[in-house]
Amino acid sequence: MKKPMVVATILEELRSERSLLSEPVGFVPTMGYLHDGHLSLIRRAVEECVSVVVSIFVNPTQFGPKEDLATYPRDIEGDLRKLESMGVNLVWIPTSEVMYPGGYQTWVDVETLTLPLEGKLRPGHFRGVTTVVVKLFNGVLPGKAYFGQKDAQQVAVIRQMTRDLNIPTEIVVCPIIREPDGLAMSSRNAYLDPDQRKAAAVLFLALTNAKDAYGKGERNGENLRVLVREMIVAESLAEIQYVSCADFGTLQELDTLTGKTLLSIAVFFGKTRLIDNIVLV
Ligand code: PAF
Repeated sequence: MKKPMVVATILEELRSERSLLSEPVGFVPTMGYLHDGHLSLIRRAVEECVSVVVSIFVNPTQFGPKEDLATYPRDIEGDLRKLESMGVNLVWIPTSEVMYPGGYQTWVDVETLTLPLEGKLRPGHFRGVTTVVVKLFNGVLPGKAYFGQKDAQQVAVIRQMTRDLNIPTEIVVCPIIREPDGLAMSSRNAYLDPDQRKAAAVLFLALTNAKDAYGKGERNGENLRVLVREMIVAESLAEIQYVSCADFGTLQELDTLTGKTLLSIAVFFGKTRLIDNIVLV
């Protein structure tokens, strides 16, 4: 009979329970409030690995001082019910004190890839992400770790970090899961009021409109950025932070598209900041 799911909150407990798991071990790091996007990563991990570990930790070091750390949605009981029903073996729910005890002073910083896009607008964000991901990996020691393509720059930065630091974990990237109207699933969608929620469908429409233009032969980066902008600006509840058309590998803005390209956006609806992207190949 399968052992019931175990929940660990201190590092010693995590290490001893981890040592009992059969290989290969798959890992899905999350900040909780699990939606179908997270569940798709967990499903993939369950399919591909013998044991699966999920972490739930709202990592304070990746939030800026004016960001939504205090209000970030949480539902541990609901999350645990979902994880148990999916056959997850071990859940790691550390506290901030466990992750960042007094006197903490070590950080992981990926240099160039973190400069544009999210890194430019959210200073320190990726330093917090990469540091916590290394700490989570060091506790869980996964063979494979699963991340969503929705956070495209996060994925690029984590891949770079695992290569640079010789971390023996395979990074598996899973497709964006969308609501029926195309809105990418995100825990932050819970902040949207009904009008904002309806308006937010414009994001995917704008990205697909640009993808169609690309399909018809448009290769000018600025023209694609303008196409996306014009459609989003027409939605009065949307306030654009950036529209980017960048090289998929370097994340540098493109004048002319020649290879794999990341079209990505950050847009406010009221105080809620949403990101989305589409890959042009
Ligand atoms: O993508 C997220 O939910 C977070 O950035 C992660 C990877 C769990 C690190 O806190």
